[in-house]
Amino acid sequence: EKGGYEHFMLKEIHEQPKAIIDTYRGRMLADQGIIKMAGVDDHLEKFLNADRIIIVACGTSWHAGLVAEYLFEDIARIPVEVEYASEFRYRNPIITDKDIVIAISQSGETADTLAAIKLAKSKGAFVFGVCNVVGSSIARETHAGAYTHAGPEIGVASTKAFTTQITVLSLIALKLGKAKGKISNSLFHSHLQTLQLIPKKIEELLAIDDQVKHIASVYKNATNCLYLGRGFNFPVALEGALKLKEISYIHAEGYPAAEMKHGPIALIDENMPIIVIATSKGHYEKVVSNIQEIKSRSGKIIAIVTQGDTTVKEIADHTIEIPETEEAFTPLLTTIPLQLLSYHIAVFLGRNVDQPRNLAKSVTVE
Ligand code: F6R
Repeated sequence: EKGGYEHFMLKEIHEQPKAIIDTYRGRMLADQGIIKMAGVDDHLEKFLNADRIIIVACGTSWHAGLVAEYLFEDIARIPVEVEYASEFRYRNPIITDKDIVIAISQSGETADTLAAIKLAKSKGAFVFGVCNVVGSSIARETHAGAYTHAGPEIGVASTKAFTTQITVLSLIALKLGKAKGKISNSLFHSHLQTLQLIPKKIEELLAIDDQVKHIASVYKNATNCLYLGRGFNFPVALEGALKLKEISYIHAEGYPAAEMKHGPIALIDENMPIIVIATSKGHYEKVVSNIQEIKSRSGKIIAIVTQGDTTVKEIADHTIEIPETEEAFTPLLTTIPLQLLSYHIAVFLGRNVDQPRNLAKSVTVE
């Protein structure tokens, strides 16, 4: 049932190219320049007239929501707020019938997310679900939605659900950007071509597993780790840190790279591994200067860079290369080595990778 893999998590990491193709299937017709999504098409007027989109989710799904915030604002120019479902529902939030609420949930059973959408519905908002489990409570409670079609995710740590959520949300952003005239036809077409190449690029990345495993062996005894990223990759830094925490029990924090000097820089010494996402188009120069600041304080740097990078390579202790793609879609690639890094560290430490202590696959109590 694990398809020859030692753990479900590793199997699910490796399933990502196929899972993303399944997410595209029947929806993205790249050569014709079409994105078909019934859940959006059937309610297009609502989406086009929305004042803002409020995304509610928990955990990894919340991180996918943060990536979506960057995508929707950049591509479709719609204001977005991303909320922890648990905070949103208890805050007396301001919701109107001009709002669209998007609930993101792998299981479709998360109690706080379910309660948040019931609240939003009661205030007149249109609620759209991005779920993986077909027929789940959230899928049933929402007005419309789009399934991620990632297939069953058994490992407690979410992997393919995250990348397929980002895939669905990218398609929605592009579809709305085009319908609103916020993105040129040529850019729309080129983005579809770019997205179509992502599964192959993930395939390429999975082949560097041995390199990531080696890095894991070097840092497996760390007690703290910092993950830094900017822009589209800031949420990936949060997700990388969450993945490490939950399966290895090593304390980790994700931060926007520029926030480092507002506090976390005090933690840096020669025992602190810092994972920095430094893709070539993502405020590269600024991230490079963050890397230099870390180096001058003797921190150990594991950098995720774009193929062909030379500058960061000279400073970092380790570099992991990702294939080139549009910056907006880099989270689909930069996430992969971070998943593998957490996985290998957890295996080295003898942790129960698929069922970490104290965690459940779906959190049906608040
Ligand atoms: C992290 C993880 C959790 C879930 C969170 C939301 O790997 O698994 O943080 O992402 O409990 O779950 P869903 O997406 O099922 O609502």
